[in-house]
Amino acid sequence: MTTTPVIEVDHLTKLFGNFTAVDDVSLAIEQGEIFGFLGPNGAGKSTTIRAILDLIRPTSGTCRVLGLDSRKDAVEIRRSLGFLPSDLALYPNLTGKQTLQYLANLRGGIDWAWVDTLTARFDADLSKKVGELSSGNRQKVGLIQAFMHRPRVVILDEPITGLDPLVQLEFHNLMREHVGEGNTVFLSSHTLSEVERVADRVGFIRRGHLIAVEAMADLQDKALRRITLEFPEPVPAGDFQGIEGVHEVSAEGASVTAQYEGSMAPLLKAATAHGVLSVSSATVDLDEMFLEFYRDEVEASGEAEQGSAA
Ligand SMILES: Nc1ncnc2c1ncn2[C@@H]1O[C@H](COP(=O)(O)OP(=O)(O)O)[C@@H](O)[C@H]1O
Ligand SMILES: [Mg+2]
Repeated sequence: MTTTPVIEVDHLTKLFGNFTAVDDVSLAIEQGEIFGFLGPNGAGKSTTIRAILDLIRPTSGTCRVLGLDSRKDAVEIRRSLGFLPSDLALYPNLTGKQTLQYLANLRGGIDWAWVDTLTARFDADLSKKVGELSSGNRQKVGLIQAFMHRPRVVILDEPITGLDPLVQLEFHNLMREHVGEGNTVFLSSHTLSEVERVADRVGFIRRGHLIAVEAMADLQDKALRRITLEFPEPVPAGDFQGIEGVHEVSAEGASVTAQYEGSMAPLLKAATAHGVLSVSSATVDLDEMFLEFYRDEVEASGEAEQGSAA
């Protein structure tokens, strides 16, 4: 059985002048999943999100939400959608409560008991003027408005920025519950660690190109299959290359890092022959992997900056 994706981006391209911000991106987000859309600043995350929401017009390609066309059926889509933009603009002179009441009146049919629950869960202070709140506390108001009508689809652009760890945890729980009820969440972030505990799948975008879409479980498995070996003195990386199942070997000083498939035994055997002092494998965090994903990007943009400065 195949179901229509809840969010479908089909060959989306967006140019600003002659600059390509999003280049032929296709994505399908399924019902009931939390999808993390990852990429460094300027990668094209917000541009993609704005096209999905019909806030900008694609140069080519289409977006669909709940089977409806983003451009033609924008009004209908809005009813089932919760959205938190990355640059949330609220009236600074309204309190959090007044802000939510205003937005609730626009939408209609809001269950205030649920708003109160969200407020308590995020420990939000709705009595203060929004303009007087710290960015993290203002973000709470933004999150409440995104979830207050229990939308079938929630799209959040960098929602975690500025939230303290306890609030992040509560936010994760909320997203889990929300998709557990058959809804769908799409959120963007520039760090994998922000979404690694909560996303079911992640897509990586850089310079407008979607470079990979992976199940979180597969990424975690890859991260675990990395090993760092410490030796009494420097060992050439070449001594570990070519060992069955071992790849991406790198040596730095007296430590060697590698990835392995299957059994760790052949690698350990070679390490033992060199008098290995310590072995660590599960300590590699996903942020490091994320950086590796983008390392050539960082190097390439460094070159580009030098190029443009010249
Ligand atoms: N309205 C715009 N006009 C011109 N360039 C834009 C506009 N919006 C975004 N860009 C450019 O497009 C690229 C992608 O931006 P954006 O989608 O906001 O990235 P992200 O959200 O991943 O940080 C950036 O280089 C940005 O400067
Ligand atoms: Mg952005």
